[in-house]
Amino acid sequence: MNPPPSEPQHWHDLPHAPAPGTALGAWAAVEDGQALLQELPPPAGAAGPGFRYLLLRSGNDVKAYVNRCAHFGVPLAARQELLMFVPHTSLTCNVHYARYRWSDGACAGGECDGVGLLPIPVLVDAEGHICIAPGP
Ligand code: FES
Repeated sequence: MNPPPSEPQHWHDLPHAPAPGTALGAWAAVEDGQALLQELPPPAGAAGPGFRYLLLRSGNDVKAYVNRCAHFGVPLAARQELLMFVPHTSLTCNVHYARYRWSDGACAGGECDGVGLLPIPVLVDAEGHICIAPGP
């Protein structure tokens, strides 16, 4: 299933996408094997939800993905306690159970064949903040 041309291809195509350098969280707040739902508020005066994303940690490696299922464009889960994941392995949308690989967000089964989660490039700065890295 390839996304239609109107579908976002990159994290920065999403409404209210933050600028590179934006802090997405603290490295120390993400336990090893944890996947956290996070959201940045919309800009002042803007309507709608903010920028929803996921932070994942495997050992010293931290990844971020847009919290947006490639099937219907909705969040994988609306609340942390509803997020389904197998630590270090996969995340599953709780609407129709599309499954995505932890390591790169690619589809690993279900209603997402050929598409995946949109990765957000991140780095951990000297103060331990997980920040959006420069670049695509
Ligand atoms: S909306 Fe996620 S699998 Fe359908």
